Amino acid sequence: MKKVLVILLVAVVFMQFFPIDKNNPAPTPGMDFLTIKNTPESTAKLIRNGCYDCHSNESKYPWYSNVQPIAWFLKDHIDEGRKKLNFSTFATYEPKRQAHKLFEAVEMIDKGEMPLDSYILAHPEARFTEAQKQEITQYFKSTEKEIRLMNDLPAEISK
Ligand code: HEC
Repeated sequence: MKKVLVILLVAVVFMQFFPIDKNNPAPTPGMDFLTIKNTPESTAKLIRNGCYDCHSNESKYPWYSNVQPIAWFLKDHIDEGRKKLNFSTFATYEPKRQAHKLFEAVEMIDKGEMPLDSYILAHPEARFTEAQKQEITQYFKSTEKEIRLMNDLPAEISK
């Protein structure tokens, strides 16, 4: 038993020599969702608190991002999150993709899949009330609609 604990301890200490890269990608002015849409500040704040750590290039790294293996878990979420939807480069997406991402975002919030549970545990400000969820989803929906109207795109139907 003691041997196992020692091996575990050595492994955890060893992991600490492999920190994550905490450099955020360079800012891309004029491409950020909240900026180009001129989002009302109260809604923008909710989206920043709930989504921007994983879905933007403005991720904030808490103290435990220095501790392995937690940091790997966190970094994986950031990398995956940005790949799927990056609000910082939103303006570079084709209109169809923009509308689709907003459509998906509403579904994710409605189903309680986003923000991720593990994130909410560590970030109480991302635990939204029903009213706050409504505020975000209504905003995403109206923005999606606007993009579809401007680009003559048909509405999407939930699967
Ligand atoms: C802790 C990190 C994290 C936070 C916070 C977070 N997400 Fe995600 N999100 C992910 C990861 C990782 C994925 C990809 C894996 C998956 O789909 O579960 C994802 C996937 C998505 C997708 C699916 C995109 C696609 O193309 O499939 C949408 C939409 C999304 N998130 C929206 C949001 C919104 C809106 C918020 C804020 C209310 C949010 N997320 C908060 C990490 C996060």
